[in-house]
Amino acid sequence: MEPSEVQRGLQDVVALESRICFIDGREGRLLYRGYDIRELAERSTFEEVAYLLWYGRLPTAGQLRDLTQRLRELRILPEPLRAWIGSLPATTAPMDLLRTAVSALALFEPEETRPGPSSIGGAQRLTAVLPTILGEFHRRRSGRPPLAPRPELSAAAYLLYAVLDREPTELEARALDVALILHADHELNASTFAARVTASTLSDLYSAVTSAIGTLKGPLHGGANERVMELLDEIGSVDRVEEVVKERLARHERIMGFGHRVYKVEDPRATILRRWSEKVGAARGNLHYYELLRKLEEVVHREKGLYPNVDLYSGSVYALFGIPPDLFTPLFAASRVAGWTAHVLEEYDDLRLIRPTAKYVGPTDLAYVPIGERPDDPGPAGAARPA
Ligand code: CMC
Repeated sequence: MEPSEVQRGLQDVVALESRICFIDGREGRLLYRGYDIRELAERSTFEEVAYLLWYGRLPTAGQLRDLTQRLRELRILPEPLRAWIGSLPATTAPMDLLRTAVSALALFEPEETRPGPSSIGGAQRLTAVLPTILGEFHRRRSGRPPLAPRPELSAAAYLLYAVLDREPTELEARALDVALILHADHELNASTFAARVTASTLSDLYSAVTSAIGTLKGPLHGGANERVMELLDEIGSVDRVEEVVKERLARHERIMGFGHRVYKVEDPRATILRRWSEKVGAARGNLHYYELLRKLEEVVHREKGLYPNVDLYSGSVYALFGIPPDLFTPLFAASRVAGWTAHVLEEYDDLRLIRPTAKYVGPTDLAYVPIGERPDDPGPAGAARPA
């Protein structure tokens, strides 16, 4: 096949077949393994959704009990990794910590959790352990006592306990459970694609998830939720929303939490999180962020025709729990790891090296000039970037 026109950002390119996630961007629908996200958010749990993503079907009661038990057992970190986390400066960015900790974890894991179609144990291990990595780090940097494994807590409750060092309320645990369900997968988003590209070389699961975490970090992807909260704090009050948005748009800046490559209408995850933002805010007697976000939606839609995405409301829920903003994107990772690993397993099952082509637009046939004969100023091609 002859190379055709370049699709910048691979927009609308169908890269592979998958049975994991379906998005209808025009109707605002999202399905995991055929199940509507709205029903899963209403009736399911993160553990059950992880089972669904990995195994392709809903579990029986016994299967869910076994998986839940296994995830709880797999929470404990190898001692050298715990010690390494304890040695990090408090200024370490949590996404950097998470990326490097997953990479380092591979050094301490047994052979049987390494690559290949049978590596579902690795998927479970990574999903179970990310909250522990975050909790260990956050507790150390804020001078709190180390974590206990707390095998009686659900994934969401353990994550909250890990970072907050207190018992979460039922409402908090359920709100986070729903957020974890909503973030668990999203078809070929950038980080999942990165994971699949890595897996397609027959590299291991830990390398694939390390690639994915590095990709999620960027503000155009998972990093947007933290930036939304920075914007809300800059705005401060509802009567300033209009002014700040217009200023930003006049400077051609993006408003984080809005727009999506696939959804042309409202992201269904934003619809669900909006309700939780209101619910948690009302329970706390603090609707400050919720009200700012409602106004922000109104102004951004009027000015740019953009709809909210999943990142708009999540931070407003986490902030009310007392979670610091630099843990918002790591929380996204602690959920999306279920989807990343499901995609990596699917990639191993239907392996084809992912290797697109580029349309070359640079010069050709340049004459090589020996270094001693080159002019001092090499011209714009060499000077375009700062050293
Ligand atoms: N604020 C202002 N303008 C925007 C925004 C925004 N959030 N999103 C898109 N636009 C404008 C953009 O400037 C462009 O305008 P013009 O045609 O006049 O240059 C037009 O809309 C099309 O933008 P695009 O970048 O070609 O569209 P895309 O499909 O590549 O963008 C996006 C998708 C998510 C990168 C983009 O909407 C964005 O930067 N949003 C803000 C970051 C954000 O919230 N990211 C989270 C995404 S959802 C969770 C996830 O997947 O991680």
